Amino acid sequence: MKVSVLGAAGGIGQALALLLKNQLPAGSELSLYDIAPVTPGVATDLSHIPTDVNVVGFAGEDAAPALEGADVVLISAGVARKPGMDRSDLFNINAGIVKNLIEKIADVCPKAVIGIITNPVNTTVAIAAEVLKAKGVYDKNKLFGVTTLDVIRANTFVAQAKGLSTSDVNVPVIGGHSGVTILPLLSQVEGVEFTAEEVAALTHRIQNAGTEVVEAKAGGGSATLSMGQAACRFGLSVVAALQGEENVVECAYVDNDGAATAFFAQPILLGKNGAEKILPYGELSAFEAEAVAQMQATLEGDIKIGVEFVK
Ligand code: NAD
Ligand code: LMR
Repeated sequence: MKVSVLGAAGGIGQALALLLKNQLPAGSELSLYDIAPVTPGVATDLSHIPTDVNVVGFAGEDAAPALEGADVVLISAGVARKPGMDRSDLFNINAGIVKNLIEKIADVCPKAVIGIITNPVNTTVAIAAEVLKAKGVYDKNKLFGVTTLDVIRANTFVAQAKGLSTSDVNVPVIGGHSGVTILPLLSQVEGVEFTAEEVAALTHRIQNAGTEVVEAKAGGGSATLSMGQAACRFGLSVVAALQGEENVVECAYVDNDGAATAFFAQPILLGKNGAEKILPYGELSAFEAEAVAQMQATLEGDIKIGVEFVK
């Protein structure tokens, strides 16, 4: 397997690359790309870690050398939030970055599975889909918005609130990746009961966890280490499924015929060709059903901005 990380010299990129260097299956190749000149040095640095994963690094304007033969491409290239900003404020810079990188992927490794981390995810995934369609290489089963950070946050906060081990908690998170579009399905956490107040407080914290980090970093960026962990989990799941492992399920933001909006995050069964099956998200509580209805206009608007940007 060859995994390429675009934006690899950044906060997420370096954390993700370190985790992948240590956790990808033996014999894998890890290919790093960033416009920052330090990127080949990041690869050299990582290459001294004794694992059987080969690391290469490329800098400059052209991502092509980093993409040749890639099976999986994870994109965290772009700018991050500062306090007072919303994820949508990143659109002006990040839309163009994602568009250019996806054009390159379409030309060099059109069959790769793509995971988009760059915000605003609700919109950048729609941009990617339009670019791939225009290039005639769109496969909706191979394009994912990475929402795993919402899942690991939900697991952490629920475990803390209920005095459980994090390894015993699995919270599906559906919708999208900003504000009210992030919806943890607390009613589906096995063996745990929540009061209405707990549901409201936990949902609010999970929806605003990105802002919690942005404010705590006080102008120094947004979540990088937890996102590196989340993207590594997602990337390893994709790699495992591509290699034939069965029953690999992750929540992710995908082109979703069955949902009320064109793209929607829910549990996905991963397989040898990317998304094997979009799994039903199951029965919702009244609170969750109302939240799904309430998020639709926001999500539709976010998607439309992406589609119109490309068109
Ligand atoms: P960062 O500034 O630390 O790193 C971004 C990197 O992208 C930099 O190294 C920069 O040189 C590089 N870059 C910029 N333009 C590029 C281009 N055209 N080609 C290649 N590389 C380019 O930022 P970060 O903290 O790593 O965050 C990156 C993105 O991820 C942001 O948009 C942020 O909002 C987003 N993010 C998403 C999630 C999520 O859950 N999906 C979580 C956290 C952050
Ligand atoms: C997050 O959820 O931490 C990311 O989307 C970054 C951000 O801007 O909040």
